Amino acid sequence: MPTPAHETAPFGAVFAEKMALSRWDGERFEEPRLEPVAPLSIHPAAHVLHYSSSVFEGLKAHRGIMGDLRLFRLDRHIERMQASARLLYLPPPDGPLLERMIIEVVDAAREAIPDPPGSLYLRPTLVGTEANVGAAASPSKQALLYVLASPVGDYFSGGIRPLKVVVEVNRPRSTPTFGMAKTGANYAAALGLIMEAKHTHAADQVLFAPGGDVQETGAANFILLDDDRVLTKPLDPSFLPGVTRDSVLVIARDLGYEVIEADFTIDEMLEFAERGEAALSGTAAVLAGVGTILHEGTEHKVGSGEVGPNTLRLRAALTALQTGVAPDIHGWIRAV
Ligand code: PLP
Ligand code: COI
Repeated sequence: MPTPAHETAPFGAVFAEKMALSRWDGERFEEPRLEPVAPLSIHPAAHVLHYSSSVFEGLKAHRGIMGDLRLFRLDRHIERMQASARLLYLPPPDGPLLERMIIEVVDAAREAIPDPPGSLYLRPTLVGTEANVGAAASPSKQALLYVLASPVGDYFSGGIRPLKVVVEVNRPRSTPTFGMAKTGANYAAALGLIMEAKHTHAADQVLFAPGGDVQETGAANFILLDDDRVLTKPLDPSFLPGVTRDSVLVIARDLGYEVIEADFTIDEMLEFAERGEAALSGTAAVLAGVGTILHEGTEHKVGSGEVGPNTLRLRAALTALQTGVAPDIHGWIRAV
């Protein structure tokens, strides 16, 4: 059998055949349509192309061990998309409308959903489409909502391996209020530092800790853990309220870990990392172990430098819930 495309292509570069679309005319979203994935037609003056009025989500549908299709925490992702839209002055889509669009796309991609550890990554996207280059200081009067689907494997190439992160203390990833929004401009702002970390230090990601406040990485939240505890920053508007972060904290409590949501300094992190573990949590990243933290030119090994046993344990517990190996005791699964 040929290797499936999602196993050789980069994460997110292969698409299912169908997407769902709905235009907003300034008052309401039209009845959504399911269409073949194809280039969009938007005006070159579209608000999003000039003033970055864009928000998106990332969630996954997993194939369960019984062959069933399971969307993970759909309600949370819809709520966050609505919150991001409000921050960007885009029209928050109604929950039932967005839910219907996501489910239609998953249903249409039924045959293309990889077996675990692969999954179908869903990318709901909302952009301002008003054609007006003068509208820098006003919200877009039109918008386009669409849902793309991508069969995916690992986000970080090379499977489960210890990652290297570079600590950035001078520049934030986003602004104090926009970190909580899933908006394209945040990724554009962080890109330069991430490129530099990749090229200069062969790092996988940047850990943003502006002024010593350890927040998150460019595409995932950040968690410290050991045999007894899970420690992460409490939610505030400066960073993304990750659905995986929340899920890992709930699972950790279920498994008897003490969960501590508290701010910590870089020194405290490095001290913890000497004997503990660090991990990145996110829909794409799942729970990915950190082996090395580079800070001010010094490489600090995290624990043994390998992916830690508690990271692997929590990751396995998370994926067991997603794929139906473990019962859905928290009501996180939406069957499709
Ligand atoms: N932080 C950033 C910047 C992200 O891009 C993501 C990915 O979605 C996360 C955190 C993790 O969020 P979630 O677990 O909801 O996917
Ligand atoms: C996700 O995990 O859903 C993300 O948005 C990460 C990404 C930038 C690929």
